[in-house]
Amino acid sequence: MFSLIQLPYAPDALEPIISARTLSFHHGKHLQAYVDNLNKLLPGTLFEGLPLEEIVRSAPAGPIFNNAGQILNHNLYFTQFKASEPAVQPGLTGHLIAQIESQWGTLDAFKAEFEAKGTGLFGSGWVWLAAAPDGSLQITQEPGAGNPLTRGFKPILTFDVWEHAYYLDWQNRRAAHLAALWPLLDWQVLEKRYIDD
Ligand SMILES: [Fe+2]
Repeated sequence: MFSLIQLPYAPDALEPIISARTLSFHHGKHLQAYVDNLNKLLPGTLFEGLPLEEIVRSAPAGPIFNNAGQILNHNLYFTQFKASEPAVQPGLTGHLIAQIESQWGTLDAFKAEFEAKGTGLFGSGWVWLAAAPDGSLQITQEPGAGNPLTRGFKPILTFDVWEHAYYLDWQNRRAAHLAALWPLLDWQVLEKRYIDD
């Protein structure tokens, strides 16, 4: 049985960029529903008892993949944030930042491409920063419940572009919402995802 992850911050910690009201629906209703659905779908199938990542890697397109993918994606999404900090942030360092700068030149150039790919994704889905086995990085657009781990990449960072992620706070302004998310990222979490096996 899978259960709903606990958020590692207070419900209002991401205000005003992600409101407590959005979090209460996104985490408490949408993610909870994916968890409940998967727990109903798994008994008696080949996927019962497998870790979430294994289900996402191996399930064919359909309800089990969709609900497992959405749980994995949201778990990675919600746990990459921390309480927003003042506008002036210390300089970022680490292997992940170094790799981003080596491929994109600057962190700002990377952010611009990431936002453009999230804004340009048609319909509901996710934009990802993912690492290949050799450590090189890619930005990928995944419709629906997609996750780059199905193609052998390690998922590092993701922005949710389903409307449920932003509509209460930003209405149709997806691009503005994505551009506002950067100060909420916990780069220590992202670095750990990048360097861990
Ligand atoms: Fe979502």
